[in-house]
Amino acid sequence: MAIAERHQSATPETARGDVPVISAHDVSKTFGDGRVVALNGATFDVRPGEFIALVGPSGCGKSTLLRIVAGLLERSGGDLRVHGEPVKGPHTDVAMMFQKPTLLAWRTAIENVLLPAEIAGKVTEADRQKAEGLLELTGLTDFAFSFPRQLSGGMQQRVALARLLQTGADVLLLDEPFGALDEFTRERLNVELSRITSEVGATTMFVTHNIGEAIFLADRVFVMTPRPGEIAAIVDVPLPRPRDPAIQVTPEFNALVAEVRGTLGGRL
Ligand SMILES: Nc1ncnc2c1ncn2[C@@H]1O[C@H](COP(=O)(O)OP(=O)(O)OP(=O)(O)O)[C@@H](O)[C@H]1O
Ligand SMILES: [Mg+2]
Repeated sequence: MAIAERHQSATPETARGDVPVISAHDVSKTFGDGRVVALNGATFDVRPGEFIALVGPSGCGKSTLLRIVAGLLERSGGDLRVHGEPVKGPHTDVAMMFQKPTLLAWRTAIENVLLPAEIAGKVTEADRQKAEGLLELTGLTDFAFSFPRQLSGGMQQRVALARLLQTGADVLLLDEPFGALDEFTRERLNVELSRITSEVGATTMFVTHNIGEAIFLADRVFVMTPRPGEIAAIVDVPLPRPRDPAIQVTPEFNALVAEVRGTLGGRL
């Protein structure tokens, strides 16, 4: 299902109770002939338009879980479905973004954004218009013809985000996408991400080490603990999205930070 079709219908509020977009039951992953249990018994549903944040200490299986959902890594056990279909490999409904910008240095911003369309076949006028719209959405209209080396790290990640949206996938998986950026840039991009994902109605899973970032962005926070990697708790964030940065100094917000921190028991 393309994002555009879901744009009007799938706000998180109206979507509660809808058929899950992602459905995981007892998903596990072991490495090294079973010696390393990277992920154990992951069971959850993600509803249409929902924003899930995954938090947990290094090595608890966050990237492993995301790569399994993306179909980039084979699970060792359990059942995993996207739009009701068992995940057997990479699929066009799902797009993933990594911590490092993975732009092609010899292509301009708009040429990078158009890459998924080019890989899928011929680039049409509609693809071009969509790419221009996404550059506008990510605040990059004036930099459409700049090369990656002419852009800051934050701008490069915004190009990568626009390229992710260009795929038309309605499930976005973001693995610490702003982790390498300074705190100010990261905070600004989080505000933009909150707005953009609400606007396009994408179903999102977002990995972070930062509890405040998780609560600012997510409808629900999956708290993971290591050895074996497990989802130890799921914390609801009952605050309307998209959110204003001012929410971060409210008592409700701080109570949620304390709740997640308590679940982690100092393990972050
Ligand atoms: N390809 C692999 N081969 C062997 N072990 C692996 C592999 N990938 C991950 N692991 C192990 O699985 C566990 C979970 O790794 P994963 O990368 O999912 O953690 P993470 O929560 O994303 O950590 P970080 O926050 O540092 O990115 C770790 O113990 C790691 O060593
Ligand atoms: Mg990781």
